[in-house]
Amino acid sequence: MTQTNEAAKQLDHYPELAAKQSSWQHHFQCDALNGKTILVTGAGDGIGSASAKTYASFGANVILLGRTRSKLEAVFDWIETHTETSPVIVPCDLENLDGTTVEHLADSIMENFGQLDGLVHNASRLGPKVPIAHYPADEWQKVMQTNVNAVFMLNKGLFELLDKSENACVIHTSSSVGREARAYWGAYAASKFALEGLSQLFADETETAGNIHVYSVNPGGTRTAMRREAYPLEDPAILPTPEDHMELYLALMCSKDQVSGNVVNFTTGQQIDARNWLQNSSQ
Ligand SMILES: NC(=O)c1ccc[n+]([C@@H]2O[C@H](COP(=O)([O-])OP(=O)(O)OC[C@H]3O[C@@H](n4cnc5c(N)ncnc54)[C@H](OP(=O)(O)O)[C@@H]3O)[C@@H](O)[C@H]2O)c1
Repeated sequence: MTQTNEAAKQLDHYPELAAKQSSWQHHFQCDALNGKTILVTGAGDGIGSASAKTYASFGANVILLGRTRSKLEAVFDWIETHTETSPVIVPCDLENLDGTTVEHLADSIMENFGQLDGLVHNASRLGPKVPIAHYPADEWQKVMQTNVNAVFMLNKGLFELLDKSENACVIHTSSSVGREARAYWGAYAASKFALEGLSQLFADETETAGNIHVYSVNPGGTRTAMRREAYPLEDPAILPTPEDHMELYLALMCSKDQVSGNVVNFTTGQQIDARNWLQNSSQ
């Protein structure tokens, strides 16, 4: 199939992703996400930034939501320079997200794009790694607000826009400690358990209609700022990069008719372990 070559050509501008592409099991049409609108939270750095750049490279208009304006601007500039898509910046600290802000966001997406085809809940606050007995209560609130309450508010407030799409995808970014808790991971672990619950609820509620597919993805150890904060003594070179996960992130977001090769089908509500998936897909 010629798609592989076409797609490879399109990724010349993104060498970190192009380097991974030769081992992909899935082949995505260059325009696989053309006309789609995808909101990524925490789009200024790490996995969020890589997702935004990847989705834009395959044609999606990406809404870049994040806390630090300068980081969002850098991703925005990259997308404007290297793709034909129309990115949008939404500087927003999820710690302060409320219903009114979500309403304004929904109105603005409605006005500019008419619907929402993808929502990647990626932003997250790590919080301190201390025992529950010493966990600061204000930090607990901040972690839960960013990692859980904001996700609930966005799913609720953007639901109508997602429901207008024929094929929408919602990705909740989880963690290993959100599936099996470990000592000292505090509110972060509890928040990721809650996120898994939200993901399952949302998947179950939308399964019959069938136009919204909902997943939870655990990236596992990945070479980002958050990982460095959690494991300052670890050698980052041993970890996958955010771009290593982008075949999975694309496969989840693309319609089946835009993908060929050794395609893996996903089921709404599925919990996906990105590092297992990476290992299996490269075998
Ligand atoms: N990296 C790993 O090893 C690993 C493992 C398991 C799960 N995860 C999950 O993967 C996701 C992405 O993390 P990452 O590793 O890519 O981390 P990262 O590079 O630190 O990126 C996190 C992003 O979230 C944004 N963010 C944090 N708090 C926010 C807030 N209150 N409002 C808006 N944006 C906020 C950050 O904004 P600023 O740049 O402005 O700070 C940053 O852009 C997270 O959900 C994390 O829990 C990561």
